[in-house]
Amino acid sequence: MPRDADTDVVLLEQIDYYRARATEYDDWFLRLGRYDRGEEATRRWFEQVEEVRRALRALPLDEKNILELAPGTGIWTKELCNRAAHITAVDASSEMIELNRQRLGDQVEKVTFVEADLFEWHPTREFDAVVFCFWISHIPADRIDEFLAKVETMLTRGGTVFFLDSRKEHTSTAADHVLPSRDEELMTRRLDDGREFTIIKNFWTAAVLEDTCKRVGLNVEIHETADYFQYGIGTRG
Ligand SMILES: C[S@@+](CC[C@H](N)C(=O)[O-])C[C@H]1O[C@@H](n2cnc3c(N)ncnc32)[C@H](O)[C@@H]1O
Repeated sequence: MPRDADTDVVLLEQIDYYRARATEYDDWFLRLGRYDRGEEATRRWFEQVEEVRRALRALPLDEKNILELAPGTGIWTKELCNRAAHITAVDASSEMIELNRQRLGDQVEKVTFVEADLFEWHPTREFDAVVFCFWISHIPADRIDEFLAKVETMLTRGGTVFFLDSRKEHTSTAADHVLPSRDEELMTRRLDDGREFTIIKNFWTAAVLEDTCKRVGLNVEIHETADYFQYGIGTRG
């Protein structure tokens, strides 16, 4: 399929952004600095993180071969490591991969890291589960079908898919970030040193995600926490 050159440029800038952000990435998850939106918001955030963790822990991932896409600094890789037989973790940023390795400590032995662009990379085998956290929002609208169809091919029949992302809640992001308006998928992100990058940020509706998954052979149910998170749980049909 021919590619939109402008989107390709943004996708490369998105990789550059995460490479540059790697060492300050966890501030977002830990609600520090520009991501600290007050005590009450922080309490609600971590309460809802726990809700997602419980959902993830309820999945049949023990001793499974898991593919994690865009694992970043390893917030969820660590969680998966406690369960999996093996994890293949694919991220475009060597900086993110290094921080992920450090977070895992001895458990790093369970993980094979691949530094690759997910819009180019194809696995050579199938996996029992495919997991991607805070990645699906960074896929352009005209590539979401193709991406989810690819996920389907990565899974064994009956295999598990789990994905997690942000709901459109302004306190989810940094105080100096503006979320894209309804029909817009570009967002400006700023680093602590003031550098700015344009990235893709889509807030998918549950209906769009469920329908798209269904079309490509994934039976997925979308769940949402009260403010912050949207996650999908499903299987390959
Ligand atoms: C929002 S972070 C999510 C990290 C992690 N999954 C988490 O939940 O904290 C997005 C990740 O996608 C990676 N990434 C961005 N563009 C990519 C691409 N084209 N191919 C592979 N990884 C990419 C970034 O390096 C970053 O680690």
